[in-house]
Amino acid sequence: MLDPDETPPIDRSALARSYVVANGKGGVGKTTLASNFAGLVAADGGSVLLIDVNGQGNVGRDLGYRKSVIDDEGAAFAEALRTGAPLLPATGVRENLDVIVGGQHIGTVPDMLAATYRMRQHRQALALAVCLAPIADRYDLVVIDSAPENPPLQQLALSAARWMIAPTKSDPASINDGLGSISRQFRLVRTSVNPTLELLGVVLFGSGSASTQIHRNARKWVAEELGADAYLFDTIVRHSEAVGQDARSHGRLVHELELAVANNPKFWDLRAGRAAAGARVSATSASVAEDLATLAREILTRAAERDTE
Ligand SMILES: Nc1ncnc2c1ncn2[C@@H]1O[C@H](COP(=O)(O)OP(=O)(O)OP(=O)(O)O)[C@@H](O)[C@H]1O
Ligand SMILES: [Mg+2]
Repeated sequence: MLDPDETPPIDRSALARSYVVANGKGGVGKTTLASNFAGLVAADGGSVLLIDVNGQGNVGRDLGYRKSVIDDEGAAFAEALRTGAPLLPATGVRENLDVIVGGQHIGTVPDMLAATYRMRQHRQALALAVCLAPIADRYDLVVIDSAPENPPLQQLALSAARWMIAPTKSDPASINDGLGSISRQFRLVRTSVNPTLELLGVVLFGSGSASTQIHRNARKWVAEELGADAYLFDTIVRHSEAVGQDARSHGRLVHELELAVANNPKFWDLRAGRAAAGARVSATSASVAEDLATLAREILTRAAERDTE
């Protein structure tokens, strides 16, 4: 075990392809975006690690591994954070996609780290970076899903990333509360433990409309909250409660749902009692899948552009 009084040097170049999805507010699409971004790049052949820094374990709902043999509810992850040992991913959750499983044990991590590292707040905030850096080189992409309304867990997640992506609803209160509180954590982490962290952009998530007026207003409010140079991604992930529900109830990513639409039971099968109505998957998944794929391309292109600047 590492000496609690020693912060090991962190290889930041190994974390250069690490993205944290964060917002201070709950229910704004963080987990959906993190899981689908990771899953899309993996389906495209990239080697991807997805890390669930949440007490709820919703990544497991999106990927369908809740209550399966790999679901230890974050016990192994919490133990690695305590000891500083390299993370041990659950492999093959999808082809090319490994996962660090979160869940209820992650809820106890802030108290556990405070007890282990006492007054050493930098060491506490760096706990994930310490465990991730030794294995991050194995992956083309690392995606970190983060918790709302939990500054210590948010600091852990932000400290291990190069890029922050902030999904938000498009109304002024969401932008004001959610982005306002995460931007405080962002500044704190950047000035104290991770000067490499940058805000890649803000994503309008679950927006009812793609209207330019909504986009223009959101841009204004984002600029008021985060500064005029904060970037708003062009892609808006459209609102569809049906797709959100289908994804979690089937444990499938949105592009996987799109494939399942083709196998929907026929109306006649429903009438004949050969299939249940709940087995049908919303056809809107094709549009949402397209939004998420366009967004993934935009994220990666923008990161590449920023790297060459
Ligand atoms: N395109 C969509 N339109 C509307 N709702 C969606 C869409 N995609 C997912 N949802 C639903 O929105 C809810 C919130 O999404 P999600 O869990 O990704 O947010 P979150 O920011 O991670 O929440 P938390 O802060 O609780 O972790 C979920 O119930 C999800 O199923
Ligand atoms: Mg979430």
